[in-house]
Amino acid sequence: MSTLDFSTKIGSKRFSNPIFTASGCASSGQELSQFFPLTDLGAIVTKSIMTKARTGRMTPRMAETPSGMLNSIGLQGPGIDAFLENDIPWLVEQKAKVIVSIAGESVDEYGVLSRRLRAVSGISAVEVNISCPNVENRGQVFACHPDTSVAVIESVRRNIGGELPIIAKLSPDVTDIVEIAHAVINAGVDGLALINTLLGMVIDTTTMRPKLAGKTGGLSGPAIRPVAVRAIYQVHQAFPNIPIVGMGGVSNGRDALELVLAGASAISVGTASFGNPMAAINIKNQLSELLIQRGFNDFRDAIGFAHRGVQ
Ligand code: FUM
Repeated sequence: MSTLDFSTKIGSKRFSNPIFTASGCASSGQELSQFFPLTDLGAIVTKSIMTKARTGRMTPRMAETPSGMLNSIGLQGPGIDAFLENDIPWLVEQKAKVIVSIAGESVDEYGVLSRRLRAVSGISAVEVNISCPNVENRGQVFACHPDTSVAVIESVRRNIGGELPIIAKLSPDVTDIVEIAHAVINAGVDGLALINTLLGMVIDTTTMRPKLAGKTGGLSGPAIRPVAVRAIYQVHQAFPNIPIVGMGGVSNGRDALELVLAGASAISVGTASFGNPMAAINIKNQLSELLIQRGFNDFRDAIGFAHRGVQ
């Protein structure tokens, strides 16, 4: 019987397997824990947390699209105080590996959040969400420009201290994602999360008005998978040593394998969990089976395999 070393690394941290939740699709894991122990996943990536509690955008804030969905949540969340008081202790009690996602309206806000996290034990990494498309001001999509991306990452790096790996979450809504990746790598990130949702819009042809109260939303689901594969492939080709947490429409093990072959060191499962709370576990089992069938006994040998022998 073949065995597989399914572990993966991001910066200095090791994860028992490469299947994570995607930020925003499982809150802090409370609902999913009704279906499986959170320790079965490589990590729980929390919903991006901000300094203050937020109710998010007006409803309706979700809309179905062909092979996907739009969300316009607007970074709803309890704020860092309640998060540190309730969510982190609960996750630690579950013995889950935790990646905390943070989001801010300004460079300073990311610094404040990083300072709050620096002394917290039980966190394996910080995801710096600089790419949420659902903000009032497109100037706050820091990941659309190298300079603003760097300013945020430098602020996080200055304030977080220690060994905690920093993962920058980038937007596909740019001309050259490799340029943005290059900028944040130079600013000191240990990994990248690729990709956040794409900015989209749906108009209801009966009411003849936008379906979402916020008009635009982030497109996720299988419709965006080829965009994720392309972005991961391009960035891995340019920076083969930087770990990438890949996401974007992964619904089964074959989809996950595609992102791994493009260059992902871990896979986040998001939209698929809305339809099936066991999706991430099924994907983990299917990916492991597919790797064994292809003769791999170490998951890490499959990362970026599609690049080998290709000019
Ligand atoms: O609207 C939201 O809360 C989405 C966040 C994100 O895509 O980063």
